[in-house]
Amino acid sequence: MLTKRLSTSEEDIEVAGKILREGGLVAFPTETVYGLGANALDSKAVASIYEAKGRPSDNPMIVHIADSAELKQLVKGGRDGIGKNAIKVMEAFWPGPLTIIFPKSSAVPDVTTGGLDTVAIRMPSNDIAYRLIVEAGVPIAAPSANLSGKPSPTTAEDVLEDMNGRIEAVIMGGCCDVGIESTVLDLTGDKPIILRPGLITSEWISGVLDQEVAYDKMLLANNEMVANPREGVTETSFKPKSPGMKYTHYSPKAKVRLIEGSDIEFKRKVVELGIKAKKQGYSSAVLNYEDDVRRAAKKFFADLRELDRQEYDIIFIKTLEETGLGFSVMNRMLKSAGYDVIK
Ligand code: TXA
Ligand code: MG
Repeated sequence: MLTKRLSTSEEDIEVAGKILREGGLVAFPTETVYGLGANALDSKAVASIYEAKGRPSDNPMIVHIADSAELKQLVKGGRDGIGKNAIKVMEAFWPGPLTIIFPKSSAVPDVTTGGLDTVAIRMPSNDIAYRLIVEAGVPIAAPSANLSGKPSPTTAEDVLEDMNGRIEAVIMGGCCDVGIESTVLDLTGDKPIILRPGLITSEWISGVLDQEVAYDKMLLANNEMVANPREGVTETSFKPKSPGMKYTHYSPKAKVRLIEGSDIEFKRKVVELGIKAKKQGYSSAVLNYEDDVRRAAKKFFADLRELDRQEYDIIFIKTLEETGLGFSVMNRMLKSAGYDVIK
């Protein structure tokens, strides 16, 4: 299959909308990462996403909408099923990088939700994504547009690295603003729970809802693994509510090692470990975002891919403080390193 490179012109967005309506796959930019879109209401089209990504089919998709009027056909109970908390967070954060879990209506095919009776929905703020969803005229199911297990793509070139020849088209829409995937917020239980951390933090959501917003224990278990790697806590021994969180993620070809400590300690350890690696014939690269968490979020996935292209064997990364957005970026860094942290 020849993958079309589409521009952001009106004509090309029309071409992309038509491909989606006819059951094809189009990768498109959002404010977080590039998504791999299909018509969310077309089971066959959604099934082909799993195939293109090489993704396990119990991993549910996020459904992207351009107008909150579209919610009533996707959520169980229609308009009345939406709930007060959801209305508050949508008013505060939509359009934007927040995904909300709702009980699903029967209009949403099981394949879209990986067999769950809930559906993840978000309204992206990226203008190209907005125009595409409006043009397609259907809700768009879209996971990140990477091969399963690889870092999420934040440029059209990174999408093509994984998806060229596997999908109908890519919209060449430049680089993504946020750089890590949306916050996933579950509002279906007694208490609001964050299943995946992102730019929109628990503190912000908590402020809007005027109630505590906890992290899924799986996320905290990850930190526990770092603190206590021999306690037998493994990722697969947990059944996270968000199925996607249990798979290996964000792995470049290089071995990633996180290093904790002050700037001076970090530099000393990097020199020491770099020399050791070199003696064994391995090349190493360094990522130090100097506590600029916004830049770390924006660049981290792109940097992993770039260092892979340069064929480094090892990547040393300075850890970030695990508060606010730093917690969200560290969640990705820890996964890419297989929870290997040098203290
Ligand atoms: O920023 C983003 O969210 C990007 C862009 C393209 O919108 N999309 C994205 O999709 O990251 P994906 O498929 O790579 O990640 C979706 C996450 C997974 O962790 C999945 O398990 C979770 O959302 N998820 C989806 N539906 C769910 C549901 N019904 N219940 C719980 N978790 C769900
Ligand atoms: Mg993904």
